[in-house]
Amino acid sequence: MMSNIFSLCLSFSLLFYVAQGATVTFTNNCQYTVWPGTLTGDQNPQLSTTGFELAPGGTNSVNIPSPWSGRFWARTGCSNNGGFTCDTGDCASGQVECNGAGAIPPATLVEITVAPNGGQDFYDVSNVDGFNVPVSITPQGGSGECKTSSCPNNINDVNVCPSELQVKGSDGNVIACNSACVAFNEDQYCCRGDYDTEETCPPTNYSQIFEEQCPDAYSYAYDDKSSTFTCFNGPDYAIIFCP
Ligand SMILES: *[C@@H]1O[C@H](CO)[C@@H](O)[C@H](O)[C@H]1NC(C)=O
Repeated sequence: MMSNIFSLCLSFSLLFYVAQGATVTFTNNCQYTVWPGTLTGDQNPQLSTTGFELAPGGTNSVNIPSPWSGRFWARTGCSNNGGFTCDTGDCASGQVECNGAGAIPPATLVEITVAPNGGQDFYDVSNVDGFNVPVSITPQGGSGECKTSSCPNNINDVNVCPSELQVKGSDGNVIACNSACVAFNEDQYCCRGDYDTEETCPPTNYSQIFEEQCPDAYSYAYDDKSSTFTCFNGPDYAIIFCP
């Protein structure tokens, strides 16, 4: 009898847990391996994985609780020579797991804020910290707008990323593109100081390059997309690298 009651309680709590969470499924459509990183914002505990390897064609799913807020990104050119390091998106943990450390810019970021109890989720793709890998996020299920947010183009192309923003690998190829804020650290590009509101921080000639390539992604901090990507009723999410 005790054990029946116990398993009943366990079943209910499992049901509750499934109903409250979301599953994020990562797919790597790039022709190269990526090492996704996960970072839970604020004081929350980190997810069950904070970093893993994803070969070309590979998929992996991670559960996120509700409510939750955090970000995902891809690392590239990783190797383990007396410590795990990556050419782009490195989190400097020295391991495949990032353990609460975020991406060192430049990196394309996927940001999600999951509402409690099936409320309004927010999600986006951001080039505010620059670009390294094309990525998209699409809610699965849910209700409302639930549009795909995507940065599908390769901004690393030498004809796209201005030379003053380029990050080059040891072979001389462009492996990432800095945002102007990351490259120059000036208030007008970082929307700080006299430029710290949407009105006083207009797009710049640099943010426009990101906007042209990836109009669905944030090109700079006050890019006017704050209410564009929303979904209700607890969708799952599909994140695709090189969509
Ligand atoms: C952007 O504008 C700045 C300041 O006017 C200029 O120095 C720079 O060359 C421009 N860059 C591009 C890529 O247009």
